[in-house]
Amino acid sequence: MHLPSDLLIQVDAARLQCEIDELATCSSTPGPGVTRILFTPTDLAGRAYVKQLMTDAGLSIHEDPAGNIVGRWNGSLGEHDRVGTGSHCDAIPHAGRYDGTVGVLGGIAAVRALRAAGLVPKRSIDIIMFTSEEPTRFGIGCSGSRLLSGTMTPLQVAQLVDEQGISFDQARQTAGYSGRLEDVPLSPGEYGFFVELHVEQGPVLEREALQIGVVTAIAAPASFMVTFKGKGGHAGTVLMPDRHDALVPAAELICHAEMLARSSGSDDTVATVGKLEVHPGAINSIPRSVTISFDVRDTNRIIRDQMVAELKAMARALAEERGLELQIEEINADPPEAAQDHLIATIEAACESLDLRHRRMVSRAYHDALFMARIAPMGMIFVPSRDGISHRPDEFTSAQEMANGVRVLAEVLARLASR
Ligand code: HGY
Ligand code: MN
Ligand code: MN
Repeated sequence: MHLPSDLLIQVDAARLQCEIDELATCSSTPGPGVTRILFTPTDLAGRAYVKQLMTDAGLSIHEDPAGNIVGRWNGSLGEHDRVGTGSHCDAIPHAGRYDGTVGVLGGIAAVRALRAAGLVPKRSIDIIMFTSEEPTRFGIGCSGSRLLSGTMTPLQVAQLVDEQGISFDQARQTAGYSGRLEDVPLSPGEYGFFVELHVEQGPVLEREALQIGVVTAIAAPASFMVTFKGKGGHAGTVLMPDRHDALVPAAELICHAEMLARSSGSDDTVATVGKLEVHPGAINSIPRSVTISFDVRDTNRIIRDQMVAELKAMARALAEERGLELQIEEINADPPEAAQDHLIATIEAACESLDLRHRRMVSRAYHDALFMARIAPMGMIFVPSRDGISHRPDEFTSAQEMANGVRVLAEVLARLASR
């Protein structure tokens, strides 16, 4: 049996680029960006394409009731202690084509390369396309990996509701995923390791002319919604002293969030308001109800939680001062997760054996690996993002840079599956 170190791993970079480009055509918005929202027709088309690639690569397909798709290369040890890799293929509106897809299509490419190199895995190797990593439709990210890892219960996921009032449970069944969500959570020991390949979505690797990022930890994401409710009224006849405007305090809170993030003392603190809904939204009507989304992160959970608490306290003070109603809806507040030392060392050894320039770094974006880390030792491999751009149509990683990541992934999978 070949030992991983003498495997001749050859990755067809041009083929991988074609597959990334083909998947990008499954989009509900015209190019150059990609929009692929959970369980929509373009998401289902993307799923069908991924399953075809998995089948062509000789993987057996397993889909769970939540829509997580697994392509499995059976090893001699059977179903336990499998080596998992993968990522997501859903995309936020007007996104790029590499976020997530490099980890799914790259995983399939790694299996192709390992089969061609003659690997006979002892542990089974799973390529997972997690059902929904982006929070776009149901407001919370990673519903598939949260369910698999037991971070969210089947009932919590089933009851998620989108802006049209459709529940996750209804949406999944309409998409053809029946069965009980209770059957989705993984039992302990199903995965011995989980390693995710992903674009960096930041500027570090490109800035330092490096080819691979070896992730040491994934930052802790928290998100919540704040709604101010005032009296509204006519923009001409309600004089300033009589107003209970819901938008002005929202603006103050947004500026306060930026100030807190900039002055937290940690470079890793970030705060983002990505959604702002103003009702009734008429030019001559005082905003009666305003909802703001907050996304707050840091690699240090204490700093993050402190910032979330300060923002909520400020929201309460503003509502009090202006005679407004206030609603705060928690979405998530997840702890950061560390990559496992052994996997960091294995990824570094693979980079050395492939002569690829690499460095250790944190991931400020969250990934399904953040939740898989709760049930298996986790590692992540980054490849560069041009100008650090992501969640934008001009997101870009070259075919060669992707292939470098796939080669490292293949080497790591071979080492882990041969143990
Ligand atoms: O928001 C994130 O970090 C991920 O891209 N969903
Ligand atoms: Mn993303
Ligand atoms: Mn992603």
